[in-house]
Amino acid sequence: MEKLGVALVGAGFMGRRHLLGYAALRRAGYERIDVAAIVDLDAGTANARADEAEELLGTRPRVYTDLGAMLAMDGNVGAVDIVTDPRTHHTIAVDAIRAGRDVICEKPLALTVRTGAQMVTEAERAGRVLATAENYRRGGSNRLARAVIDSGVLGDLFLFREVRIGGDDGVILSPWRHMKRSGSIGLDMPIHYADIVEYLLGPVELVWGRGFIAEPVRHPADGGEPIAPDGEDSLVAAMTTTSGVDVHLAYIPSGRGIGYGERVLHGRNGSLQIPPDRSDGDIVLHLADGTRRGQEVAAFLGDRFQLDPVTAAVLGPDGTGGKGAPWGDVDAGHLAVELADFADAVLDGRPPEVDGAGGLRALAVVHAAFESGLLGRAVHVDEVLTGAVHAYQDDIDAQFETEVEA
Ligand SMILES: NC(=O)c1ccc[n+]([C@@H]2O[C@H](COP(=O)([O-])OP(=O)(O)OC[C@H]3O[C@@H](n4cnc5c(N)ncnc54)[C@H](O)[C@@H]3O)[C@@H](O)[C@H]2O)c1
Repeated sequence: MEKLGVALVGAGFMGRRHLLGYAALRRAGYERIDVAAIVDLDAGTANARADEAEELLGTRPRVYTDLGAMLAMDGNVGAVDIVTDPRTHHTIAVDAIRAGRDVICEKPLALTVRTGAQMVTEAERAGRVLATAENYRRGGSNRLARAVIDSGVLGDLFLFREVRIGGDDGVILSPWRHMKRSGSIGLDMPIHYADIVEYLLGPVELVWGRGFIAEPVRHPADGGEPIAPDGEDSLVAAMTTTSGVDVHLAYIPSGRGIGYGERVLHGRNGSLQIPPDRSDGDIVLHLADGTRRGQEVAAFLGDRFQLDPVTAAVLGPDGTGGKGAPWGDVDAGHLAVELADFADAVLDGRPPEVDGAGGLRALAVVHAAFESGLLGRAVHVDEVLTGAVHAYQDDIDAQFETEVEA
């Protein structure tokens, strides 16, 4: 069987989870990927992950601390899985593509539209696959929601609400997630929701919103020195899709004592409640003739809802992982689906489900909200994608001035 040799570049918090995704694929009998190499600037981290990979996958990937050395020496690596912090995504991707490799890159595709567009252009020029690792949409409830929408049973759609509020003043995972120039959490998380909106409803056209810092001081979990974030932790926006649906988006990881989330779609004939990503909650469909939950919704749709075989193999027949499944297994299943889609795209010569342009669109939607806050007006996503509007991103881009030669 033809296999794709992959180098995992970035073996930190999420790099480890990607390994668990590869292991989930292996357990499900999917054997088209060989994790051939692991690259991390930190040798200890890279070696720890290689040990873990050996346990999970049966063979120990070669370890590198230098991307250039791996690209120059490792002929078994046909593709690169970028799981580094986002400031580095575009340079790693461009180097890998120029060295003849296909690329899957964690979200956000890049920190700015300018650098993300460089990745897309480079991949197009070289005829390489560039995929965005966007995991949330891959779960059964989002797939079922999309099938409900495609079936038309909700009638004309008018409002979608995506709200995530709740948290405290703790550092969220890592200090870099609180600094604008390294990719703050106010960009990092809403990217997922922008992708969900476009997956379910099609392109976002117009955005009116702003980003802000809800928690001006954040405390690390280890009791170390507090940090003063200069990157937004929060974003609120009102958007319109080209299909004419209004979208309310709020992501605010603050607000003591309360935490809630909502993903709801309203149409003239009914409403759809979609449970949290990677949860075992039920999707709920409200129509004039009554309310259907979970598998009743799938049964109602019949042939109009079909899961692909890889998703069914790693996440079970309904694509959710099943009631009470450990969160880690469900998370690994979602990552497995995106990684298999990438490998199939490379080996079968077809585009991945979320390509570079798709990742760039999600980035542009979120930046449109930040740019809107700065300009004090609604911003067209196309203005951000074409580079006509960029003021918010300028000081992020300034640090990259000389990095990528055209
Ligand atoms: N999809 C999701 O659910 C999800 C969840 C968490 C993180 N992420 C994304 O994954 C990416 C990584 O996040 P993380 O939490 O693992 O970060 P992290 O800081 O834990 O790990 C990043 C790793 O990359 C390594 N690294 C940095 N620059 C490098 C380079 N040039 N070459 C090789 N290694 C390099 C670092 O040494 C570190 O080990 C980010 O883009 C983040 O947004 C996605």
